[in-house]
Amino acid sequence: MFSELQPRPADPILGLSVKFAADSNPNKIDLGAGIYKDEHGKTPVLACVKAAEQFRVDNEESKAYLGSAGSAAFNTAMNTLMLGDHKVIAENRIRTLSTPGGTGALRIAGEFIKTCKPGATIWVSNPTWANHQGVFTAAGLQVKSYPYYDYENKCLDFDAMIEALKQVPADEAVLLHACCHNPSGMDLSREQWQQVAELAKEIGFLPVIDMAYQGFGEGLEEDAYGLRLMADTLDELIICSSCSKNFGLYRERIGAVSVIGKSAEQADIIGSIVPAVVRVNYSMPPAHGAAIVETVLNSDELTQQWYGELQEMRDRINGMRQLLVNKLAENGVTQDFSFITRQNGMFSFLGINPEQVQRLQDEHSIYIVGSSRISVAGISPDNVDYLAKSIASVL
Ligand code: LMR
Repeated sequence: MFSELQPRPADPILGLSVKFAADSNPNKIDLGAGIYKDEHGKTPVLACVKAAEQFRVDNEESKAYLGSAGSAAFNTAMNTLMLGDHKVIAENRIRTLSTPGGTGALRIAGEFIKTCKPGATIWVSNPTWANHQGVFTAAGLQVKSYPYYDYENKCLDFDAMIEALKQVPADEAVLLHACCHNPSGMDLSREQWQQVAELAKEIGFLPVIDMAYQGFGEGLEEDAYGLRLMADTLDELIICSSCSKNFGLYRERIGAVSVIGKSAEQADIIGSIVPAVVRVNYSMPPAHGAAIVETVLNSDELTQQWYGELQEMRDRINGMRQLLVNKLAENGVTQDFSFITRQNGMFSFLGINPEQVQRLQDEHSIYIVGSSRISVAGISPDNVDYLAKSIASVL
């Protein structure tokens, strides 16, 4: 059975973490996977998470199965976090299930779409998160792409995007990043969200919104603007969210898939199908991460603490964007890198070529994704000089 197997290349993002761990250079810098690091290069457990975990240890009464939807308290809290007091909640049109991370949410969304329409196509932005194509293909969807980023001018190519979306047939799905576009850091403006929402309504394509970074862009409410607008405008919508980044719960694997239908009756049908999709996949989601998030969000005190910790992460990353731009200039780089400060969230596209990316790794032990995506969260006041000098030397 196994004798014909050939090795596969390492994952373009996770493979970097393995190489980084094996590198003995004391100056090495990990700007690969999207993981928040503080100014000391550590990924701390948030204090609100520690408090919620202690609460769970003291109060958990059972480890019996929760069912395929996971924790109802978590699912309700996530609806409010994503949608506030949106009418789709009052109208009972949304069904949310806890999932193993945002990736689990995307996979279940893909399989749900396949259930609605076997052989369906999902359109993803070019570029997009390196795993989107694989997850949706594995779920049985066709994957196509629409233009998104103008590599030359380092900005959004909205005209090309909207022209491509005009060609998407009804009943196909379109993946949109709610905020902090991964990998480009370039987000839609409010006016652009409006145009995409109107187009989705006119054509009848189904937006699938990937919200993996709520709170890392402008703020929790601001970052949900686009998806709330979509929910205002459309009868049907899917949201895939993640608590990996904003709660720092990466390895706990907790996210949610939310499907909005046009009526409570339709939502009931959806609510019978999505758990069935989960049941034959991983049966039920893990519970620990969900318990932490629901404990934080159902406590005023812990929620306030979380807001503060999230803001600290957001502010630190934004500070590093400006610092990197300044340090590049100090190191004699004349090329304009100011676009780094106009991007949102954890990532930035440096816009250097694959050979330069490889030289950063081989000659300087600086690990960034091959597309030249850097995780800005890996920059600190201690490593920024070395980083800027190294980039300057490969340009
Ligand atoms: C990333 O894009 O680096 C993160 O979402 C981590 C991952 O799973 O790829």
